Amino acid sequence: MILNLEELAQEVATKTQIPTLERDVLMIFSSIISTPNFWEIAYRSARPFNQVAETLGILQKKGLIGTDNEGQIFLTPEGKKIFAELKINPLPDYYCTACSGRGISIEKLKELKEKFAKITKERPAAIVNFDQGYVTEETTISRIAHLAHRGDIEGKEIIILGDDDLVSLAAALSGLPKRVVVFEIDTRLTDFIKEQSEKYNLKIETYQHDLKYKLPLEFLNKFDTFLTDPPETIKALELFIGRGLAALKGPGCAGYFGLTMAESSYLKWLHFQSLLAEKFKVVVTEAIPNFNEYVNWDYLHSSIRNDLSFLKIKPNLNWYRSTQFRIITLPESATTNEDFLDEDIYIDEESLVYTKMEA
Ligand SMILES: [Fe+2]
Repeated sequence: MILNLEELAQEVATKTQIPTLERDVLMIFSSIISTPNFWEIAYRSARPFNQVAETLGILQKKGLIGTDNEGQIFLTPEGKKIFAELKINPLPDYYCTACSGRGISIEKLKELKEKFAKITKERPAAIVNFDQGYVTEETTISRIAHLAHRGDIEGKEIIILGDDDLVSLAAALSGLPKRVVVFEIDTRLTDFIKEQSEKYNLKIETYQHDLKYKLPLEFLNKFDTFLTDPPETIKALELFIGRGLAALKGPGCAGYFGLTMAESSYLKWLHFQSLLAEKFKVVVTEAIPNFNEYVNWDYLHSSIRNDLSFLKIKPNLNWYRSTQFRIITLPESATTNEDFLDEDIYIDEESLVYTKMEA
């Protein structure tokens, strides 16, 4: 049997509507021989989730891979032969275990981490309605450390646009910012943040707000730093970051947000980078891969495609991660703050839930 990589990439692209190159497929092959667990393969491939799943599904149909009783993936004898012919090598793991590759140590913030863990214990569960899914405590505290390290939090006025990660609580608990303001759509979260803020006298200002609607005037040009974690459609990225920029005081201010490989192809990354460079005219000072590590959320299995045997097993690690961006505004930078009510901002063809929706 001969495996035509170009045809395989084309088939994946057609079925998923996600641009797929031969090299994407080869990267996924390398991940397959690095680990038997699908979720780890998805994470190591650093490619869109549905592209990875579809590629594995095709290999399974061709009899090149199989799954055991536990859903672990193995190469069949035919698969082994083809992978050997293609000279596929496993990916070595050189990630720094001390900082999980973030380049940020939170050793000195142990006390903050413990306090944060204690007060967020009763946090509301992630729900599908608003594309929720929150990050690990370590991630939230690393964000605070990152901001502090860059001089973007101490004595600064901070705005958080969407806060299922409860960054507002960690920021206020650190005692560093001068002001913390949250805009969040989900009343379960605004109620929770308000409650904890009152209980611990954190003075967080919390507003229930759908970010499809523009920010109220009194919040424009008032902040030094914004944080957000938008749904990964181009429109949502544009809206959330545009609002964040509109809230900033002017040149030299900072914005932080995440972008995944799991729900965003390289082509989307390119569109997004053009948006930052050409529309908003902001500079990217940092993009730290895998900075944001998400806790596996309850609705995952009911929301994604379920037609492949290896998707039925539970993730063995926090596989869904995102790159943390830091941007800085310049005198040239532009902002937007208009209502946007025309279309769904949560889902595009690269979203985890897309295939399921089409089925
Ligand atoms: Fe490190």
